[in-house]
Amino acid sequence: LTFYVPRDSAALAVGAERVAERIAQEAAIRGVSFGMVRNGSRGLFWLEPMVEVSTPAGRVAYGPVTIDDVADLFDAGFAEGAQTHPLSLGLTDEIPYLKKQERLTFARMGITDPVSVADYEAHEGYAGLRRALGLKPEEVVQQVLDSGLRGRGGAAFPAGIKWKTVMATPAAQKYIVCNADEGDSGTFSDRMTMEGDPLMLVEGMTIAGIATGATKGYVYIRSEYPHAIATMNEAIRAAEAAGFLGDNILGSGQTFWLEVRKGAGSYVCGEETALLESLEGKRGIVRAKPPLPAITGLFGQPTLINNVITFASVPLILARGAAYYRDFGVGRSRGTLPMQLAGNIKHGGLVEKAFGVTLRELLYDYGGGSASGRPIKAVQVGGPLGAYLPESQWDLPLDYEAYAAVGGTVGHGGIVVHDDTADLSRLARYAMEFCAIESCGKCTPCRIGSTRGVEVIDKIRADNKRVEHVILLRDLCNTMVHGSLCAMGGMTPFPVLSALDHFPQDFGLVVPDRK
Ligand code: NAI
Ligand code: SF4
Repeated sequence: LTFYVPRDSAALAVGAERVAERIAQEAAIRGVSFGMVRNGSRGLFWLEPMVEVSTPAGRVAYGPVTIDDVADLFDAGFAEGAQTHPLSLGLTDEIPYLKKQERLTFARMGITDPVSVADYEAHEGYAGLRRALGLKPEEVVQQVLDSGLRGRGGAAFPAGIKWKTVMATPAAQKYIVCNADEGDSGTFSDRMTMEGDPLMLVEGMTIAGIATGATKGYVYIRSEYPHAIATMNEAIRAAEAAGFLGDNILGSGQTFWLEVRKGAGSYVCGEETALLESLEGKRGIVRAKPPLPAITGLFGQPTLINNVITFASVPLILARGAAYYRDFGVGRSRGTLPMQLAGNIKHGGLVEKAFGVTLRELLYDYGGGSASGRPIKAVQVGGPLGAYLPESQWDLPLDYEAYAAVGGTVGHGGIVVHDDTADLSRLARYAMEFCAIESCGKCTPCRIGSTRGVEVIDKIRADNKRVEHVILLRDLCNTMVHGSLCAMGGMTPFPVLSALDHFPQDFGLVVPDRK
């Protein structure tokens, strides 16, 4: 008998630690012999803490479980996987929210013990690295190129091209850097990966090191993620002990060392060059590009920087072949994206689907509509720099190009829902204010523009020469888009302009009667 109680922050935040202790106590009182795995979260957050029990038919889930439910659950045959208790959710694999997903990257999530190399290997772990060790670096990079994988941090740049650039740039020392600064509002797929399946990230970065000739890697994790930092460190130590990290990996003669570095809570340190500055021990200020980090990166050396999910996608691509991954998706958006449902949504959590799914499916088939029960008004996709999408755009296929065509962005897959009580002029103001607070200050359009943006939106909201100020706001946004050095100032206008274009009534603008 094994109980599974998540160690993921989302579960811990709602009492998973105490539930785990309570289950252990109750089992001991009743003389039940058991094992307990602190697994990752399955990503069904409204059911956390979601506890699972192993049975011959598969795992049975219960949730949300509080400490007061535990004795009751045991009375109802919990330890035998009985499914009569009101908290019983049936076989975990049959829960529709999970069953309808296409989990490639999140395939092991919640299933394995996050820090057990043996468990990881028993579930296809390290099959990718083993294959990579038998290939030439160019062949590994070709697999990444052929898979169609694009950067999952948000920019969607073809990963294989970046890998190739680093591989082809000669240097005595190269670096692999994982951007785990996940700053986008409503996003948590990086965090879940690091807490629930960290060895997948370790493996992906190791493959990257072997392919590009880098022997040293850093995972830059935001300080707001203490559990992810602890679990990553545990996983790195476990991989070292099992011979998957260090000098002479699995007797191959290859070397790769990995280290965790903690950020200090700045949004702009998620921008790759500011992140490098921070890793070097300096203030996180954006560097002008070129030179690209792939050529002149950390400590001036060629550096491969990818997001957590990009690296985490690689082991499977190597294990099953590029074509397997490429067969998922639409157009130039290949594979799957772990999307994160957040904000005013009934069933918030992680939904991994192939590109091509629509927002409407995500909002209603998975999300179950708004948490408030009121109509959904606007959905911000792609973090705080993403556009607010009105209902007329919810049937677009989720695809980088289709979103770009309407001024939107898929970004890192964050989906934040607002119901009809939301005031989009207030949210537009918030976007500018966020930029003013988080701006690194290096360039004028962002540093000054965002502050002026807040002032202009305040004037529009107060009906102070409203039409003139709307013209001024659009002009300012144009300057920020085209004149900013990085995405912070360059993309802040997207939420502002989408709010203005699709919800003009919230700015007090007269809406023409189209009937
Ligand atoms: P970018 O388009 O400038 O660069 C994308 C990546 O490709 C970079 O790593 C760049 O160095 C690399 N690259 C470009 N040309 C290359 C070449 N020829 N050879 C090799 N490498 C090359 O975009 P950027 O500024 O890195 O990222 C902006 C995105 O970040 C936004 O679209 C936004 O969605 C996302 N973002 C994500 C956040 C998160 O929490 N995940 C937070 C904020 C923004
Ligand atoms: Fe810094 Fe903003 Fe300019 Fe980016 S756009 S370099 S965050 S001032």
